[in-house]
Amino acid sequence: MSPSQITVEVDQPYEVTVGRGLLADFQRHVPAQARRLMIMFDPAVAGPVPALVDELRRDGFEVHLLAVPGGETAKTAAVVAAAWQRLGEADFTRTDPVVGIGGGSTTDVAGFAAATWLRGVPLILVPTTLLGMVDAAIGGKTAINTAEGKNLVGAFHQPTAVLCDQQLLEGLPPREIISGLAEIIKAGLVADPGILDVVWSGPQETLKPSGPLLGELVRRAVKVKAEVVAADPGEAGRRSILNYGHTFGHAIEQAEQFSWRHGEAVAVGMVYAAEVAVRAGLMDPTLLGLHRELLSAVGLPTSYKSGQWPRLWTAMRRDKKNQGKTRRMVLLEGVARPLMVRDIPESLLEEAYQAVSAVPGAAPYPVKTAEDYSLENPYGTPTYVPPLTAGEPPAPPSREAAL
Ligand SMILES: NC(=O)c1ccc[n+]([C@@H]2O[C@H](COP(=O)([O-])OP(=O)(O)OC[C@H]3O[C@@H](n4cnc5c(N)ncnc54)[C@H](O)[C@@H]3O)[C@@H](O)[C@H]2O)c1
Repeated sequence: MSPSQITVEVDQPYEVTVGRGLLADFQRHVPAQARRLMIMFDPAVAGPVPALVDELRRDGFEVHLLAVPGGETAKTAAVVAAAWQRLGEADFTRTDPVVGIGGGSTTDVAGFAAATWLRGVPLILVPTTLLGMVDAAIGGKTAINTAEGKNLVGAFHQPTAVLCDQQLLEGLPPREIISGLAEIIKAGLVADPGILDVVWSGPQETLKPSGPLLGELVRRAVKVKAEVVAADPGEAGRRSILNYGHTFGHAIEQAEQFSWRHGEAVAVGMVYAAEVAVRAGLMDPTLLGLHRELLSAVGLPTSYKSGQWPRLWTAMRRDKKNQGKTRRMVLLEGVARPLMVRDIPESLLEEAYQAVSAVPGAAPYPVKTAEDYSLENPYGTPTYVPPLTAGEPPAPPSREAAL
């Protein structure tokens, strides 16, 4: 299939190319005035780097390489300082790009280096995880972590080109594919029902890195992200729909000290948000059932262990979407009908947690290593939909805005 190009219509529009074998045509994406490039890459995906470097050098570019530590450990001030040093020593100018090749951790740190060097140089991203392709590499959010927390230091800096090469997913552990699917299903729930149809047409097929279903899902999810980013580049409104499932998801990530993959926590977070929406009278319970069925069909967790409400609640109160004392949360009225809702009573939020942690037969999600993870759905397909609260319903939360 020929590559698809999706334009992100921000101030300086750029193309996200989705296809296979895209690195062979990499030079096309290098700005005309560039003389040198710095490639920041995750050694776990170093395979295609030497051929790319040879090609660029043959074309007369000066190429500098900086291997960054794999995964989250890439996102440190020390790695950015190493990048600045190399950029300075090699006299990088405003027209010389930084290239990031790796998962979201690598593209975040490469993005931050590009955002800060000379107050912003061109940035070309080659995401190599599913999450990176459909989420982290698009939209211009760059960040590193500090001792105080994740993503606390960062900048908005849009890339000049993003290449999503499906071939690069072939070595990705199944757990990473499954985790990335959570963000894809999220894109379907908040904006594109067609995504849900594709997943439903072959949940196990979607897990095949080179399969046509995954290619179609990446294209559709990239379109959703591109549309949302173009509508709200600075995250002032509509972009918050991408946080669906993240309020509770972030709380789980913190409670589990980041041993869960992000998508796993977001999957439970979306079921939780659906439980809240049903209890608030916003969502039909069949859509809550669909959340559980779709997510578990691809092997994602849909429940969390019981007895954890006080710590989860503490984490949720610190959520970034809150404004002052007003607690805010993205909920759905239906597929592709997101809302920002504020001041949901704590009693209702706790009830939703009880439902998420009390699914019959569901053990706490077993965190597995890549080696022992199979492509099989560990839970079967649950059809259980918890009953709505009996007795007096809680006061309805305030609808802040349709998004
Ligand atoms: N900027 C944004 O808008 C945005 C959005 C979502 C997430 N993020 C960030 O993304 C990061 C998570 O990204 P991620 O989930 O892509 O994980 P990651 O970059 O941490 O990579 C996960 C693991 O997969 C390995 N890996 C990467 N590509 C591989 C490949 N093709 N084959 C084999 N192994 C490979 C890595 O070495 C690492 O061990 C977080 O830091 C998060 O904050 C940013």
